[in-house]
Amino acid sequence: MEEGLVLLLIFALVGITSAVTFYGDSISFMPPQKRSDGTFEVKFYHRQNGRESCKDQSSLTCASGVCTNFDQSSVLQTDQDNTGQGRWCQSERLTTATVSTNNYLSLSDFGCCWLSNIEGTTNWTTYAKLDLGIRSDTRTLNNCPVTTTVSSLRVPQNCFSWMHLLAYDPDGDEVGCRFSPNATVPSGFTLDEASCTLRSSGQVSTGVHVFELILEDFPNQNITLTYADGTSVFLEASDFNTPLCIVKLQFAVEILPPIPSCEAGHVQPMFLSVTPSNGGVLHATVNQTFQIYIQAQAHHSIIQDFQVSGPENMTKVFTYGTSGTADVTLSWTPQQSDLFRVVPLCFTAETNETQSEMRCVVVIVNQASISQGKVTVECLANKMSVVIDKASVPGIDVNFLKLRDPSCSLTSNDTYIMGSMSFSTCGTKLEDKGDFIAFVNEINSFELPNAIITRRKTIKIDFSCLFPKTVSISTYYSLHNSDYIFTESKFGSFGYTFDIFLSDNFTTVVEPSAYPVEVKLMDMIYMGIQAESELPNVTLFVESCKATPDDNPNNPISYDLISNGCTQDETLQIYQSNQTTVNFGVEAFKFTGNYNQVYITCSVILCETGDPFSRCAQGCLENPPSRRRRALSRETDRHDITQGPLQFVQQALPSAAVDNNRVVIQKSDIPATVKSLPESPSPVVPINKSSGGGWNIKEIIYTNISTTVFATAFLLSMVVMAVVVRYFRRKGKAEDQTALIGYSGREK
Ligand SMILES: *[C@@H]1O[C@H](CO)[C@@H](O)[C@H](O)[C@H]1NC(C)=O
Ligand SMILES: *[C@@H]1O[C@H](CO)[C@@H](O)[C@H](O)[C@H]1NC(C)=O
Ligand SMILES: *[C@@H]1O[C@H](CO)[C@@H](O)[C@H](O)[C@H]1NC(C)=O
Ligand SMILES: *[C@@H]1O[C@H](CO)[C@@H](O)[C@H](O)[C@H]1NC(C)=O
Ligand SMILES: *[C@@H]1O[C@H](CO)[C@@H](O)[C@H](O)[C@H]1NC(C)=O
Ligand SMILES: *[C@@H]1O[C@H](CO)[C@@H](O)[C@H](O)[C@H]1NC(C)=O
Ligand SMILES: *[C@@H]1O[C@H](CO)[C@@H](O)[C@H](O)[C@H]1NC(C)=O
Ligand SMILES: *[C@@H]1O[C@H](CO)[C@@H](O)[C@H](O)[C@H]1NC(C)=O
Ligand SMILES: *[C@@H]1O[C@H](CO)[C@@H](O)[C@H](O)[C@H]1NC(C)=O
Ligand SMILES: *[C@@H]1O[C@H](CO)[C@@H](O)[C@H](O)[C@H]1NC(C)=O
Ligand SMILES: *[C@@H]1O[C@H](CO)[C@@H](O)[C@H](O)[C@H]1NC(C)=O
Repeated sequence: MEEGLVLLLIFALVGITSAVTFYGDSISFMPPQKRSDGTFEVKFYHRQNGRESCKDQSSLTCASGVCTNFDQSSVLQTDQDNTGQGRWCQSERLTTATVSTNNYLSLSDFGCCWLSNIEGTTNWTTYAKLDLGIRSDTRTLNNCPVTTTVSSLRVPQNCFSWMHLLAYDPDGDEVGCRFSPNATVPSGFTLDEASCTLRSSGQVSTGVHVFELILEDFPNQNITLTYADGTSVFLEASDFNTPLCIVKLQFAVEILPPIPSCEAGHVQPMFLSVTPSNGGVLHATVNQTFQIYIQAQAHHSIIQDFQVSGPENMTKVFTYGTSGTADVTLSWTPQQSDLFRVVPLCFTAETNETQSEMRCVVVIVNQASISQGKVTVECLANKMSVVIDKASVPGIDVNFLKLRDPSCSLTSNDTYIMGSMSFSTCGTKLEDKGDFIAFVNEINSFELPNAIITRRKTIKIDFSCLFPKTVSISTYYSLHNSDYIFTESKFGSFGYTFDIFLSDNFTTVVEPSAYPVEVKLMDMIYMGIQAESELPNVTLFVESCKATPDDNPNNPISYDLISNGCTQDETLQIYQSNQTTVNFGVEAFKFTGNYNQVYITCSVILCETGDPFSRCAQGCLENPPSRRRRALSRETDRHDITQGPLQFVQQALPSAAVDNNRVVIQKSDIPATVKSLPESPSPVVPINKSSGGGWNIKEIIYTNISTTVFATAFLLSMVVMAVVVRYFRRKGKAEDQTALIGYSGREK
């Protein structure tokens, strides 16, 4: 049965390909999946180039006996020459292969008939080989390098010096490019194997040249591949003999007769700055239209069209501008089936005489699954904000919504429900998602504990900000907590900063890079808490502050500086403060025993100014009532904010002894960017990895440097991970009883 299928495919293949002129092709794999029954599902897109028509194309075959299923979609034309000259077209076909317990999947196709070329090459071979071992570093299957080209590449002879080819690896592996050993390399061309750039080595002859390249990926670190049959293979970092994946890229380049000027923008079109740069990584979201805007200019020729190598159903809207410019807007709406796909996309601007450089980007499809209505999440440098369109969740009462940490709720206006939090507050969790780290939180509806009847709908919305792990993170030794953002339904969003200052004039804060802050015993430590709020007239109240030897505020080893609003430590001084700022100083101390660090955690409250019943108005309470009825006044819940660590240095050290500053800032010689966390030598005490995800949230987030990198590079990558809105009514007992009485005759 299965063999019959393969045979049939081979016959079909021979029958078709022998007749078709070949213009080149590329294969891109979706991330391969291991199914629960142990088989693998491998989906791949095969793009093929042509001239007048691309409908009639060949198909790849799976190595005999490896695929138990091989479903090919029909061939769809994805691009064509809109000027009616039939100079190019491209098609794409999706294939879904099922592989049982094999260690790899190989695909191939061959044919006799390259388009006629200078070298007289006729035979071509398409090839791809995908390893099906689980990688020890990502704990998933390997992703193949991603590449493609536009269908028709044309360069005037005197203008050819290099051509960048796309070679992107979704796992961040090293990608090597080389000429296929079995193919003839056109003379005058060389390949820069590391950057995958085709270069001229002297004069290239006019006419068509055909290229067969092999792209391979190699891990950057030692890894082990574990196969379905239980065997495993060790791969050494940058061992360039054993690639994880092999994909072939085939294309033709036509060298045109020389032109008078090779200046970009003269006769040859040049891309203007709105155009994505070559090698860019862009992000698209399932069910949301993704757009790329491309603009090119040529002063002495007319741009007639753009060639695009992109996914099926990408639309292309071409318009002429002024001064020889032309632009194209590409729009594509990824479907659920495109989730996690890494789509190669290349484009050129075309005139009758020549063509611009080819630029390529990759588009990574993420998920923003919104099953009902509209939820948007924004990921900024220090916070994530979620906004829900009220109309999309009818029957939801904002006063009965909370975040993972129930002390945080949401706020609303006429049209939206919204909340903001930082990556450390409101119960936001850090999760390891393979290539990404995710900051995850959720919105849940709740009931009052003593409510007997509920008629509200229930809701659960998960949302997150995703950041690729490949980002350099500079904060191995930094545990500086500074920005705390919360949302409460009656108070809107508000935030606190908690800083250590250099002196009692509270003008200069200790920079995040200087943490941990080194202090000597008996020195004064100056700290300040400042609140910001959407409400204009609020008062900050510091209800308690305590010191602990680690960043766990519930550590049984602790020392109270302030409790119930009353100072507890005799060295504590409150300095000039205003309504929203509390500055204080305390003489440095350390915990007895083998503890060299101190963290300070304060519990803070914001109140509406002037409310005589608020906690803020009551100040120091020696015997606070065990329960307060907060509902009477407008004030926030208590929120903990932490600062530290303070690191104690031995006073006997001569350098410290002569230092005049009370707070000694450690000058670290660790470079600002430490790429690999575990290997970097730490000058201070290494911070233990959190037991959960393996990454400690504070190692990652708490410096301005790292958060800025995150924010600028990955604003677009933020996604709503999964939104599940569940509606169901829970009937209280009383309601059921009424129903029973009402329908008693029918019920029994
Ligand atoms: C092309 O392929 C055919 C059949 O596979 C083979 O007979 C022929 O020798 C090949 N031609 C060249 C030039 O390699
Ligand atoms: C090159 O040709 C040899 C022999 O024909 C074949 O075994 C090998 O798989 C080919 N290599 C590639 C990359 O096509
Ligand atoms: C990788 O493995 C090789 C050989 O086993 C070893 O010499 C090398 O130190 C390892 N490299 C790393 C970074 O672990
Ligand atoms: C492309 O569009 C056609 C027609 O609108 C639709 O049938 C097809 O499913 C779409 N393909 C993809 C991959 O979205
Ligand atoms: C481009 O070439 C085609 C065919 O040779 C011709 O019909 C068309 O007018 C030319 N366009 C320009 C702008 O020169
Ligand atoms: C995308 O839209 C389809 C149909 O409207 C829906 O079934 C699917 O769940 C949506 N997917 C996401 C991730 O929002
Ligand atoms: C409600 O809040 C949203 C999000 O902050 C804002 O865009 C909108 O203008 C606000 N609407 C009103 C009526 O205030
Ligand atoms: C604050 O104190 C520091 C250190 O004592 C000093 O260098 C600085 O000039 C002071 N700033 C102001 C505004 O007084
Ligand atoms: C309180 O003081 C801080 C700095 O000390 C200042 O930034 C803030 O604007 C002040 N707030 C008010 C309400 O005066
Ligand atoms: C804040 O509220 C208090 C008490 O209601 C009032 O005295 C004060 O003027 C208000 N301040 C501002 C800036 O509105
Ligand atoms: C890290 O954890 C180890 C073992 O749990 C412990 O011995 C060590 O003291 C910890 N280091 C820090 C800095 O907490």
